[in-house]
Amino acid sequence: MSGSPEPRAVSAAVDGADDPVIEPTLRPRRMAEFIGQPTLKEHLAIVIGAASGRGDVACDHMLFCGPPGLGKTSMAGIVAAELGAGLRVTSGPALERGGDLAAILTNLDPGDILFIDEIHRLNRTVEEVLYPALEDFQIDIVIGKGPSARSIRLDLPPFSLIGATTRAGMVTGPLRDRFGFVARFDYYSAADIETIVARSASILEVEIDSSGAREIAARSRGTPRIANRLLKRVRDFSEVRGAGSITEAIAREGLEVFEVDHLGLDKVDRAILGALVEKFSGGPVGLSTLSVVVGEEPETVEDVYEPYLMQSGFLMRTSRGRVATRLAYEHLGIDAPPQVVALEQSESGAEALFD
Ligand SMILES: Nc1ncnc2c1ncn2[C@@H]1O[C@H](COP(=O)(O)OP(=O)(O)OP(=O)(O)O)[C@@H](O)[C@H]1O
Ligand SMILES: [Mg+2]
Repeated sequence: MSGSPEPRAVSAAVDGADDPVIEPTLRPRRMAEFIGQPTLKEHLAIVIGAASGRGDVACDHMLFCGPPGLGKTSMAGIVAAELGAGLRVTSGPALERGGDLAAILTNLDPGDILFIDEIHRLNRTVEEVLYPALEDFQIDIVIGKGPSARSIRLDLPPFSLIGATTRAGMVTGPLRDRFGFVARFDYYSAADIETIVARSASILEVEIDSSGAREIAARSRGTPRIANRLLKRVRDFSEVRGAGSITEAIAREGLEVFEVDHLGLDKVDRAILGALVEKFSGGPVGLSTLSVVVGEEPETVEDVYEPYLMQSGFLMRTSRGRVATRLAYEHLGIDAPPQVVALEQSESGAEALFD
């Protein structure tokens, strides 16, 4: 084990994933700037307020679950800011060996927050280092090799772990049990997304009227990251083809140019539904086959595209594979064959495999 943290495995701040220049400014920094998720914010405010009130050095470990782009990373930064705590950021895949994690843990300051993104991708040996660290603020490290090897126990400063995952079902039971608080991020209401679009527009100094913000919000799939992305594309469109300010008509025209339809489905969403309906007679079809046909990684289809398609009622996961619903046929303007209607009517037809 080295004495300092691996630079590739940890960074000091939450970085913008999709746009390094603009994202950090759009990311909410304090609880008051974080729009939506009222229940989750209330619960978090209680947990944080109680820990501060008691003068605890660290608060309970937290697990943030939910689809991509809903604010898990942003909220981790906010929790640290509200607690006045330091934040160390790493991710499951970056921690390859137990030593990577041990190096980070032994370099934390008391009260620090350690944020592990994609925590479902931690490997078993790393996870085993984490268990005693979470429960007793201790880690066991093995020194030497063979018969002379011995294990020593190191004390760690009290810290709080915030884990984030898009796959709550893939977090192992023992790890999940060690979180004192599990927060589930839901898709945002259209009204909340509209407020986020208006806030982002004012940060980006783009003029937008309320109907323009509503039009972008309606096509953002309840996801702040998508709302910000669409806002930026509509801003581009308005600068090149309009007068620079965003109205309902400009938003609609701009989003049509970028092939985002009135429900917010993009090219890949429509390719998934189109393949299911046209190539596989509505399914069922396996994830890997479907992914090859649309030219995306299975993980991307499963994590990024399917949750919203399922939530909107276009697609079902059954024990035999993915199935297009009647709504999907309607959306594509194709008549649904009788077996699709029948499948939907039999409640046992869809066995939800999603956690
Ligand atoms: N509640 C919110 N209010 C305002 N903006 C938000 C909110 N939540 C998220 N955003 C915006 O959406 C972007 C994406 O959020 P964030 O990176 O926190 O999502 P995430 O859940 O961590 O996604 P992933 O699972 O892909 O890591 C942020 O940069 C921020 O600009
Ligand atoms: Mg994130």
